[in-house]
Amino acid sequence: MKALILSGGKGTRLRPLTYTGAKQLVPVANKPILWYGIEAIVAAGITDIGIIISPETGEEIKAKTGNGDRFGAKITYILQDKPAGLAHAVKVAQPFLEDAPFLMYLGDNLVESDLRLFIEQFKERSLDALTLLCAVPNPSAFGVAKIDEDGRVLQLLEKPKIPPSNLALVGIYLFSNHVHHAIANIQPSPRGELEITDAIQFLIDQPKKVEARQLEGWWLDTGKKDDLLEANRIILDTRLAAAVEGEVDSKSQVIGRVQIGPGSRIVNCTIRGPVTIGNDCYLENCFIGPYSSVANQVTLIDADLEHSVILQGAKIIGIQQRIVDSVVGQRAELKVAPQRPKALRFLIGDDSQIELA
Ligand code: TTP
Repeated sequence: MKALILSGGKGTRLRPLTYTGAKQLVPVANKPILWYGIEAIVAAGITDIGIIISPETGEEIKAKTGNGDRFGAKITYILQDKPAGLAHAVKVAQPFLEDAPFLMYLGDNLVESDLRLFIEQFKERSLDALTLLCAVPNPSAFGVAKIDEDGRVLQLLEKPKIPPSNLALVGIYLFSNHVHHAIANIQPSPRGELEITDAIQFLIDQPKKVEARQLEGWWLDTGKKDDLLEANRIILDTRLAAAVEGEVDSKSQVIGRVQIGPGSRIVNCTIRGPVTIGNDCYLENCFIGPYSSVANQVTLIDADLEHSVILQGAKIIGIQQRIVDSVVGQRAELKVAPQRPKALRFLIGDDSQIELA
């Protein structure tokens, strides 16, 4: 069995971060989102992995993720020249996939469940497609499955006004080689994309064996800011182990599970975990509250932070109010003069959001 991770796309919902980088490389608890997917796939026993990349962000993904050695896998990169849909990505990957059954994984998704059980069921029951579902409070915002009592999928509906169930399609699928025939027989949707839901519907109508299983535990699609913060919270909550390698002075207090990378210096700060701080950071007179991730080479002076993600090389200096629920991009600077500021001076990128709440 092979795996195909989709890491192309436009990432419009995570602008401005995605103007300068791939959304799949945005860190969650200081590790690129994409790497969690690779690790889950390898843990499920699949090591032959293809990764779909786009011309805009593919080189960055390749450079950072490498040939798979660090994961114990073999990674093949596959260029999709335009984001023409999830089924289009499978079509482009056919020379890599050949006739092998495969697991398809959307590179910005995170799940708690072990994937092994689903792979076993897919094989045991000789299925042509297995879709994973997760109960959500707002099914109209997702692809939704109508299933019978045996888990057979009867129909898939994209963002239905009146959903037949509260079971949303998670970005993880298993396919036999029949999916290639299905994709060859579908047309682009009104939004101009070759939709994987249409290919699955084609398999259902054949009829081929298409079943669904419900995920246990959480599922997160990190394509938007609030989902990214939620992913960061859950990963820090469930997977962070304390490890202080950097220097913490005697005036600082480190409470709970906190990770501080080598080369970082903490001066007169209170850090209340779960918190992860990367390498070569400088923090002085700060309170860093729970569910915060600070990437490498960040400077924080006279700042309070909570439930936020600060990316590499950012600087935050002299902000009196607590910064909450925020994502600060790479090398971004937020500074307030020590005397009461009389003016606000900005250089803000396109699609940025600033809220003085
Ligand atoms: P989406 O989040 O649906 O699409 P997107 O990345 O273009 O994001 P946005 O809606 O914010 O503009 O894609 C899910 C995953 O699949 C994501 O990791 C990108 C990837 N993808 C491809 O690799 N090729 C494609 O043609 C599409 C549409 C998505």
